[in-house]
Amino acid sequence: MVAPTEDFLPKILGYGGQSVGEMDISAVADVLAADYLTTGPRVEMFEALLCEITGSRHCIACASGTAALHLSCMALGIGREEVGLTSPISFLASANCIEYCDGRTDFIDIDPETLCLSPQHLDAYCRKHKAPRVVIPVDFAGLGADLPAMAELSKTYGFSLIEDAAHALGSFYEFDGRQYACGSCTHTDAAIFSFHPVKTITTGEGGAVMTNDARLADRVRCLRNHGMERYDDLLRQHGGWVYEMNSLGFNYRITDIQCALGISQLSRLDQFRNRRRQIVSNYNNAFSDRDDLLLPHKNLALTACPHLYPIRLKAGAAKRRQVYETLKADNILCQVHYIPIYRQPYYAAKYGYPKGKCPDAELYYSQTLSLPLFPAMSDHDMLRVIDRFRIALG
Ligand SMILES: Cc1ncc(COP(=O)(O)O)c(C=O)c1O
Repeated sequence: MVAPTEDFLPKILGYGGQSVGEMDISAVADVLAADYLTTGPRVEMFEALLCEITGSRHCIACASGTAALHLSCMALGIGREEVGLTSPISFLASANCIEYCDGRTDFIDIDPETLCLSPQHLDAYCRKHKAPRVVIPVDFAGLGADLPAMAELSKTYGFSLIEDAAHALGSFYEFDGRQYACGSCTHTDAAIFSFHPVKTITTGEGGAVMTNDARLADRVRCLRNHGMERYDDLLRQHGGWVYEMNSLGFNYRITDIQCALGISQLSRLDQFRNRRRQIVSNYNNAFSDRDDLLLPHKNLALTACPHLYPIRLKAGAAKRRQVYETLKADNILCQVHYIPIYRQPYYAAKYGYPKGKCPDAELYYSQTLSLPLFPAMSDHDMLRVIDRFRIALG
């Protein structure tokens, strides 16, 4: 018997992935023949588009969402031993950025409905401890965190607020009868996006810092490029080649090649959002009859540009593992977002955080499974997930 070639092997359906079309490919090919490969006109065009989409005044595109978080913390002056708080239900980067600045990272439990950092728990923390220096709420799965409530708390306790909107480009949140774009910085000092291939749009790797504060934007821009400064007086006095480094920065630049892809991808943001919402609505309809499941928050299909579809199996971790493995054997590769960050050996050892530190995060983690959700999924893929998931549940 002849072994099957790759073409005959069934395709693995992951939980997320990019949608790159002919237009994206030719936009990238065009840059390769142009004058700039790294920082050039497409970086500024991409930044201007992100400002237009979110309504934020300044944008600094950079190497990754992680770099954007690090730059934001540095620019806000987070220093040694200063406390930064974030959600345990997030990717490592939301916490690691505080560690990069030699701060002390602590975690605030989630709101069990929205799965985002709970303002009530944050308030309780601030009453009990010295107020933190920075709080980094995460727009989990694309659903905006309760930023207006946290903005009120930031006024009371005096901390800075960075919205981790890595999941939430194209999402909105509601407040006082109005809608605000995630990343608009209406209620925060800064916000960040990620353009990793599983996110709403991609630049391969890439990220951005958004802010309405001109001085903060200048500082982020300077730190993105080694801390180098070139101001008019300096150039007039010493010559056009001169630069000055007053603080230690990084090479966190993004390239024109990446931004050409980003610009092209942004032109399909509405299309990506519509398709993501459509898949979420179809999953919601398909599973609404099951009382062994907890569906995601209703706003995921209404105001968000959904990044993940985290569905909860009330039966808990053993059942979730069984369903995960059954789907995997069927070439449907789900994921679990996320292991509470404080459980990671680095954080547990450094701070002595116990396993059950945040009970709502623990319960959520024991039940959740992210089903495939990305615009390039076909209707056939979606129906296959629905069918196989129902069978796996039994
Ligand atoms: C919530 C969150 N924040 C930050 C990041 C970091 O983004 P990047 O992978 O672009 O560094 C991610 C990426 O997965 C994320 O999910």
